[in-house]
Amino acid sequence: MKRRKFIKTTAVSIAAPTILLSNQNIPSNHNNPLVLSTWTHGLPANKAAWKILSKNGSALDAVEAGAKVPEADPKSTSVGYGGLPDEQGKVTLDACIMDHTGNCGSVAFIQNIKHPISVARKIMEVTKHVMLVGEGARQFAVSQGFEETDLLTDESRKAWKKWEKEQFQSTPHDTHDTISILAQDYKGNLAGACTTSGWAYKLHGRVGDSPIIGAGLFVDNEIGCTAATGLGEEVIKTTGSFLVVELMRQGYSPNEACEEALKRIIKKHNRNPDFQVSYIALRKDGEIGSACINGSFEYALANKKGNKLHKIKGLI
Ligand code: GLY
Repeated sequence: MKRRKFIKTTAVSIAAPTILLSNQNIPSNHNNPLVLSTWTHGLPANKAAWKILSKNGSALDAVEAGAKVPEADPKSTSVGYGGLPDEQGKVTLDACIMDHTGNCGSVAFIQNIKHPISVARKIMEVTKHVMLVGEGARQFAVSQGFEETDLLTDESRKAWKKWEKEQFQSTPHDTHDTISILAQDYKGNLAGACTTSGWAYKLHGRVGDSPIIGAGLFVDNEIGCTAATGLGEEVIKTTGSFLVVELMRQGYSPNEACEEALKRIIKKHNRNPDFQVSYIALRKDGEIGSACINGSFEYALANKKGNKLHKIKGLI
């Protein structure tokens, strides 16, 4: 390469990131708390979170309390107790939590513990680590006073037995109803959490996006926060939640940022992906956004005006 051309190219490649990484000066939304979460189980989750937010509680306490609701609900078959098991009939759970200071905790492939989100928070608060997995995570939880419980309900066992007998191919469309929850408190601080039993009848040992900071969840208290639901493998490959936050940093609205992150996945799949990924996003100024790839997606939003479900259509 001729020196002149090289200098020109280098100048461009140095200049571009400076523009791309320039922080938007986003004003903080104060005194107007809100909580945003995925799917219909977001409504009861928001209710629990709102109880805390409305009494001037922290966004971190709110997202943990919210996530615990579907974790304990046997009817939520994609989260916690009653979550559909893996191909061996074992319920294995993933969760993570992140606060306004950038601290985070995560637990993956944990068994027999009903509230992985609280284990993730404990990891964040009492260890030097971010993530514990499997048997080590279970031992840590027990050492911290968490009770062990059989998480496989009669209904989930029956569904698994049926799947085993029929060798039913579970599709990524309908087996990824992770609860992801984002909140902003009276002080304007942000926090997020996600928790899931993951892809039903997955390979034993499979871990999805939900415990991966930057994939299933990311919080940057200067910019905003994002969380995912859907096919975790695709979210991990694109570092989805981090990408949405970074796009908001560059000036994309929360909706535009969610859409742009999904368009990258759609493009990789020849514009015809046969799976679902959805994002929810909350910017520092209180503006929210959401987008999904396929069909439709519902998120629940609670604020001073109430707690309502909102339905959006897929990009394709
Ligand atoms: N998004 C949840 C999972 O793929 O496990």
